[in-house]
Amino acid sequence: MHLSREHEQTLNGEFGSGKQAAMELLVAIGKAFDAPNMIPIKRAHAASSGQEGDLYFVEILAKGGAHCKVITTTNPIADFDYFQKLINITDEHEEASVAWRTKNYYKQIGAVMSQSCIPYLAENIPEYGEHVAFSESSATPYVNSIIGGLTNRESIQTALAAGVIGETPEYGMHLKENRRGTALVKVETNLNDGFSYSLLGQYVGKKLGSGIPVFAGISKRPTIDQYINLCAMMNVTGAVPMFHIPSITVEAKTEQEAFGGNVPKDTIVVTDRELRETSQELQTTTGPVDTVILGCPHYNLDQMGELANLLKGRKIRSGLSFWVNTSATTKLLAERTGYVAMIEESGAHVITDTCIDMFCWNNLRGKTGMTDSPKCAYYRRFGPVKVGTVQECVAASA
Ligand code: F3S
Repeated sequence: MHLSREHEQTLNGEFGSGKQAAMELLVAIGKAFDAPNMIPIKRAHAASSGQEGDLYFVEILAKGGAHCKVITTTNPIADFDYFQKLINITDEHEEASVAWRTKNYYKQIGAVMSQSCIPYLAENIPEYGEHVAFSESSATPYVNSIIGGLTNRESIQTALAAGVIGETPEYGMHLKENRRGTALVKVETNLNDGFSYSLLGQYVGKKLGSGIPVFAGISKRPTIDQYINLCAMMNVTGAVPMFHIPSITVEAKTEQEAFGGNVPKDTIVVTDRELRETSQELQTTTGPVDTVILGCPHYNLDQMGELANLLKGRKIRSGLSFWVNTSATTKLLAERTGYVAMIEESGAHVITDTCIDMFCWNNLRGKTGMTDSPKCAYYRRFGPVKVGTVQECVAASA
């Protein structure tokens, strides 16, 4: 791997032990994947989890004096001020303390505290053809497929290291020849809403494992939330850095162009039956629910508007807690547009900066939860779970 004099100096610790640790990680990854050199990036997104492994690396960087060289946004952890009113965080022992320290180290190294899992919509938007380093399940395929930026499926640590150095090893999705389709997915069912795209992602990720699917049979351009759900779920059940919908996504006008001469290794057919069975697999209960959690990935403004209209004139049943997670940016717009007031008038809560896989939901353990997100069901912090459309979640809460 070719390294410049500055790279060597960084590796030798001449610019501090934080940058040295970041460089060591990037070079190790580059060597493992036979990258010929490092390439500059414009931006990074670290899917900060606020958990032990996250704390371990960001603490090394922060204590070693590292600072982000390019815009590096962060994932949600928890809105400590908000949850402090509901639960005694200081009594939530180690998990809360680890999350708190992690968040502070990100701030110390100059990361942008966006705390959103959909940063590519507002706080950190790559351009077409731009090399970036993004982690987070929905982010990598969204950036590669919908925007046409170039990123590998980064881990929290490799994205953060790239943000500190401002470079990433040149391999994988940074090379045009690796962006061709590997599997054909024939969609023979109507995909009507965000939930059906979640189920499609869940099924395709599970069947494919890893690879680049090319979807045939999707004639209508998906909405942003449908894309997000597809991207997120393919990376819960599988490892999918990118996909093509010929004539709709940016890098292929035809199926032939999407495969670029590759012969598909797999063909997956998706009908009503596969989506129905996938939905059934997710349900672990049929009884009444105690809590509803939406916004995994974080709801965008359209979804906030849809939810506000569904809740208009309704009251959440006494004893049931109803939460919707979103980013601070989206919440601000939703407040100005009137959506937050409509949602809160029903008794539901709008929260920001928070991931559904965090200590702050521990008080829901044992309760029956409902969500429109198979990803939330997968990481669930509550007990038995029902998964359905947002309309079904609202209906179950009245
Ligand atoms: Fe976002 Fe956490 Fe779900 S990062 S996608 S709310 S698991």
